[in-house]
Amino acid sequence: MRPINSVIEEVRSEAPLIRTFRLDKNLDPAPGQYLMVWIRGVDEIPMSFSGPDTITVQSVGKATQALFHLGAGSSVGLRGPLGNGFILRGKRILLIGGGVGTAPLAFLGDQAKGAGMAVTSLLGFRSKDDLIFQERFEALGDTIITTDDGSLGIQGRASSGLKELNLFDYDQIYLCGPEMMMWDIISRTREHAKKTQACINRYFKCAAGICGSCCLDPEGVRVCVEGPVLMADRLLESEFGRYRRGPAGDKGPCRG
Ligand SMILES: Cc1cc2nc3c(=O)[nH]c(=O)nc-3n(C[C@H](O)[C@H](O)[C@H](O)COP(=O)(O)OP(=O)(O)OC[C@H]3O[C@@H](n4cnc5c(N)ncnc54)[C@H](O)[C@@H]3O)c2cc1C
Ligand code: FES
Repeated sequence: MRPINSVIEEVRSEAPLIRTFRLDKNLDPAPGQYLMVWIRGVDEIPMSFSGPDTITVQSVGKATQALFHLGAGSSVGLRGPLGNGFILRGKRILLIGGGVGTAPLAFLGDQAKGAGMAVTSLLGFRSKDDLIFQERFEALGDTIITTDDGSLGIQGRASSGLKELNLFDYDQIYLCGPEMMMWDIISRTREHAKKTQACINRYFKCAAGICGSCCLDPEGVRVCVEGPVLMADRLLESEFGRYRRGPAGDKGPCRG
């Protein structure tokens, strides 16, 4: 698939290091699907949709910093929508997100509410200054917030909010965030793994199922095409939460 050109129509600041970019293309994505965003002359990087025509980006390195230098009227190349996306199931759902990983869940929550589902959210951030989409989640239903430093909501990681919830109340659980935050949740809620859909990250190069960069041990799941949304029971049996491969294919620690 060759990239198509897209013009950035609007840039919104969500937090000091997080911005939402509204693109001139609505590619009719499912929440959980992603785009490969080509920042010309720098790199092509994967980004989840935070809405039908938006991506929400945390500045962490050279490509995301270069994207932050682009304003309305600038253009990027796009391949997508790619990957499988979340599947909405049941009547009562729980969204569990961490940091910028809350972005695809906000998009999912909007669709779930539109379909008449009851939505509860548990959101974890490092501090109140990192919080994004608070009003958007609160408009969906009950929202529990945790912060690592205790500056808002319950002090601790997202898993500290689990004590406020009975997971048996929910037909489906949707999870996205830093890998160790997700692992913390999945490993504490094993009995719910069969109803937990997790949107995960690996190092993507081709995003077409060809290069093997994103494969997950031991099954070799190609996260770029068979994911990025995988059921948590599959993750429990994988490398997830233990190690991840970098750009050269070597194993390294998981973050977050
Ligand atoms: C399916 C998927 C969806 C994502 N959605 C979002 C999102 O909605 N918002 C957001 O802010 N970030 C998202 N990311 C992460 C984002 O792709 C990286 O933060 C970005 O590529 C960093 O590039 P950089 O050049 O700025 O930083 P670098 O300094 O190059 O890298 C910083 C870190 O980002 C990771 N990274 C770099 N390049 C890639 C790549 N090609 N594939 C995967 N990880 C990479 C590496 O683990 C590295 O440690 C997503 C990643 C994946 C795989
Ligand atoms: S990134 Fe190449 S196979 Fe997934």
